[in-house]
Amino acid sequence: MQTHTAAPRRLIVAITGATGAIYGIRLLETLRRLGGVESHLLISSAGWLNIQHELRLSKEDVHPLADVVHSVRDVGASVASGSFATDGMVVAPCSMKTLASVAHGFSDNLITRAADVTLKERRRLVLLVRETPFNLAHLRNMTAVTEMGGVIFPPLPAFYNQPASIDEMVDHTVARVLDLFALGPALAPAWAGLRGAQE
Ligand SMILES: Cc1cc2nc3c(=O)[nH]c(=O)nc-3n(C[C@H](O)[C@H](O)[C@H](O)COP(=O)(O)O)c2cc1C
Repeated sequence: MQTHTAAPRRLIVAITGATGAIYGIRLLETLRRLGGVESHLLISSAGWLNIQHELRLSKEDVHPLADVVHSVRDVGASVASGSFATDGMVVAPCSMKTLASVAHGFSDNLITRAADVTLKERRRLVLLVRETPFNLAHLRNMTAVTEMGGVIFPPLPAFYNQPASIDEMVDHTVARVLDLFALGPALAPAWAGLRGAQE
């Protein structure tokens, strides 16, 4: 008799060159803390620039946060194929360049190929797009990704939870992203209504 074992939970995490590298890093740290999910990390060249500039972190600091690290040039990697089962992909932060590439199915590196595969396999793709203000190309590209089933998730801080620090703002966003994958217990308490918040 053939036995079937459940596929491991896997999440692809990409960091691109928009400001806000902390979101991708905190996502990896949180996945590590939760356990039970194999993380596959992809970082663009501009993503590395921002990790070094904004967080003063090196590859030696960042690589151990993930289970598997792929080069963005390695378009033959496991995550380039739909036959490699994953729960989906998060691009945090997502630059307008990467957004444009995903919106047009351009697949010019492993990040945009993996995003393309995630969409074609009807898996969850979440883009933490970051730019301000937006031009019409940005808005049209966000619409195109939404029409294909992707989730546009700009990392806009919430204030209703009365964050006491930037860390708390980042954690709240990361928790809401992980909610979209039903990963782990709810990390950010659900809104209980204004009356609930006052109690
Ligand atoms: C310090 C810094 C901050 C940047 N911030 C943004 C940003 O918030 N949004 C964006 O779309 N691009 C931003 N860029 C530009 C992108 O890094 C650039 O378009 C790059 O080509 C994106 O490539 P990638 O998508 O392959 O990472 C920034 C660049 C630098 C150096």
